[in-house]
Formats: sequence, C-alpha cells, structure tokens
Amino acid sequence: MERFIIEGRSNLQGSVFIKGAKNSMLPIMAASVLNSSDGDIKLFNIPDIVDMHVMKRILESLGLKVIYSQNTMSINSGKMDNYAISDELMREMRSSIFLMGPLLARLGKVKVTYPGGCSIGPRPIDLHFKGLEALGAEIREENGFIFARAPYLKGAEIHLDFPSVGATENLMMAAVLAKGKTVLHNVAKEPEIIDLQNFLNGMGAIIRGAGTETIRITGVDGLGSCSYRIIPDRIVAGTFLIAGAVTGGEILLQGIIPSHLDAVVAKMREAGANIETSEDSLLIRKSKIKGVETVYTLPYPGFPTDLQAPMMVLLTLAGGNSTIVESIFEARFKHAFELQRMKAQIHVEGRKAFIRGTDKLLGAEVAATDLRAGAALVIAGLAAEGRTIVHDVRHIDRGYENLEIELQKLGGKISRVKGIHGQQQKAAIG
Ligand code: UD1
Repeated sequence: MERFIIEGRSNLQGSVFIKGAKNSMLPIMAASVLNSSDGDIKLFNIPDIVDMHVMKRILESLGLKVIYSQNTMSINSGKMDNYAISDELMREMRSSIFLMGPLLARLGKVKVTYPGGCSIGPRPIDLHFKGLEALGAEIREENGFIFARAPYLKGAEIHLDFPSVGATENLMMAAVLAKGKTVLHNVAKEPEIIDLQNFLNGMGAIIRGAGTETIRITGVDGLGSCSYRIIPDRIVAGTFLIAGAVTGGEILLQGIIPSHLDAVVAKMREAGANIETSEDSLLIRKSKIKGVETVYTLPYPGFPTDLQAPMMVLLTLAGGNSTIVESIFEARFKHAFELQRMKAQIHVEGRKAFIRGTDKLLGAEVAATDLRAGAALVIAGLAAEGRTIVHDVRHIDRGYENLEIELQKLGGKISRVKGIHGQQQKAAIG
C-alpha cells in the first residue's frame, strides 16, 4: 500500500493545467464499443489515472484494441465479439456498468455482475435496469450474474425517478442504435452528459437536448469512428481551487471551462474566497475564509457532491460555523471522522455535517476512504501544522493524475512512499 507523507503549512503558488475529466472519459471509452467500423476512435486529453487503465482492461477483455500514450488513446472495436465482463473487472469500479447499454445495442446481449466503486453508501442500479427494460431488454439475475438480451432495442419514452448521471449515460448509449425515437425525461444535466452527446453525435448518432431535462434520440443503423477531445475535469479543478484557498496560496487553473464551476465559485466566494475568472482560467488568491450557512450537494448545476469533502476542509478552517447537507449519497461523510483526527470540529448527524471553524488543523495519520475523501485529506494535510500521513493513496490515484507531483510543483511538501506491496500494486494497475 502506498501513502503520502505531507509536511504542512504549505503555501501553494503557481499554475496547474487541468487534464480531461474522468467522468467524461469513462462513458466515452465505453461508448467506443458502438463503433462497428474498422476505423479507430481517437481520444485526446485522456488523464493517466487508474480508472482509465481499468476501463482499458475491460475494453480489451471484450476484444477491443486500445493503445494509450501521453494522454491520447486510440480504440479499435471492429472485431469485438465478447459480451461478458468478468466479476473481477466489474468490481474494480462503478463505471463498469456503463458497458451494459452499449453492449446491448451493439451485440444484443450482455453478461455482467454488480459493479464495485467508492464506498460512499448504497449505489443501486435499478434506474439503469428500468430504462434498459423500457427499451426492450430482458434482464435476469442468476447465480450472481446479470444477463440482459434484446434481439433489437426499440425507442421509448422514459422518465427517470432521479436524474442519475450513470443511468442517463447508459440509456443514451443504448438508445442511439434503437429502432425509432427515444425521449429521456428528468435526465442528469452534468457537463459530462453534453460531452457524451457530442462524442456520440461525432460517431453519427442523432441526439439533442443534453444539458436540459429532456434528451431526444433518433436511432440510427450503425455508428462509426471519430476523433474527440475530452472536456477538462471540473472536479480536479475544484480540488486545486480549494487547495489554494486553504493554504492561503495563489494558484492559476488553466485549460478549464470556468462556467462548469459556477456553483463552486459562488459558494467559495460566499465563504470569502478571492477568485478571479477569465474565459478559460480561474485564479485563487490569498483569502480570509468565513463560515457559510449551508452547502447543499445537488445534481448539476448545484454544488457537486464530488467536492463536498474538499469543501468540508475549507469550512473546517473558516472563521465561524457552517453546515453541509449531502443530498446525493447516503454515507458520504467518512472523511469527517478522519478530519476529526486532525482536530477538526465536525459533528455528523445523518446527512448533515455541522462544522465549527478553527484556526488550525494538526497533522495526523489518516486514511483515504474514497477518491474525493482522499483528495480532501491531502488538502487538509497541506494546510495543517506538522506532518500528515495519508494511507490508501490508491483511491486518490483512481481520479487524479500525479496529484503529488502537481502539488510539489506548486511548492507543496508531499511525497509518495511505497509500502511493502507498492511495487506489486503498481504492476497490477499497469
Ligand atoms: C456519477 C459520477 C460521480 C458523482 C455522481 C453524482 C461518474 C463516473 N461518476 O456517479 O463521480 O459523484 O455521478 O454526481 O460519472 N441511484 C439510484 N439508482 C440508480 C442510479 C443511481 O438510486 O439506478 C442514486 C444513487 O444511489 C445516488 C444518486 O442516484 O444516490 C446519484 O447517483 P448517480 O447520479 O447515478 O451517480 P453515478 O452515475 O454513480
């Protein structure tokens, strides 16, 4: 197991270029299965993160040829024929479920198991199933496996009970090859949904409406290859923004789409953060942070649940009290208990966290319980007095490319230490 060792009281200064969004890349890689031509799909701005390597292994297990080098990927799916994903690969990440829609659309059948992922509370996939059934799939479970088949999918009118990001994406990828028209109501409006729509349309799909509550899809007979550049990762950008604010530094975020961070910037400004925006960058300057009444995590364009943990660190170091309400996931406050080890004053009651601001955190030994919680603990360590050790760095590597190197460039005193099993773990990932 690898860990980060952080010497606190870092004052981060400099600029960071933000790479492609994990949450765009994963469904787009899955959607590549839909290319039935011999041509290669070319993807640019692909971050070198563990989840990318896992999705690459899943695609390869299905018979696709995937080549990755220096943030560029080419995918050939001309000769794919396997429709089953092993339990081992399914468990490695939640996004493995994205393959259900495209495999059904391309091959008419799919065999998977329940996906794994971050431990942030129950994450059912009933909305994915209901939607696929509405498109004509027959789904049954047997001995822990999920089998779905449909000689062909047919367009339907589907109302999601909740604007689930994953279900919206899975259904878009299934409906593009369905016969007739599909209308998806109450869908997720995240920028990554628009990115998927643009990518699929680049392959020849006919989709309109992503970014609104209703998506309309006209099925086509087949999809081909295309070249596509993934949008920048707004969650990684938000993480650096908050890192700048808690360390009293000055960080310029480049290569981003600032409007994707509107809710985050608004809430940070409410907390006193000094943020300047331009067309494609954000600058955070030394700020005096104060408590805010309430941060509600909500579907986009609300405050993203993926930045709830980093935001908690910021509010922990604010003058005054704050409340965070986690409305998306049931058990996404595990980082609060780790932050308590660093002397943060947080009281959790169900989906609410009550935070009493303090002028300093103290370094401690903590564990990354999930991806974003891990990033939050790193930020806390950079701001704290003394040394912090963050265990289970593998969670952080799922979504941040070389986080410690980027932070070192900004002046952060952080290093990665390999444990006894470190080498084996890296080998397994590669
Ligand atoms: C995606 C993001 C994740 C982010 C989340 C919410 C990716 C790869 N991951 O996850 O980073 O935290 O959106 O913004 O894009 N739900 C159901 N039934 C379902 C599906 C979802 O009840 O079939 C519930 C979930 O349990 C959760 C809520 O809906 O409470 C939101 O989940 P969803 O939007 O689906 O998140 P993911 O797509 O898994």
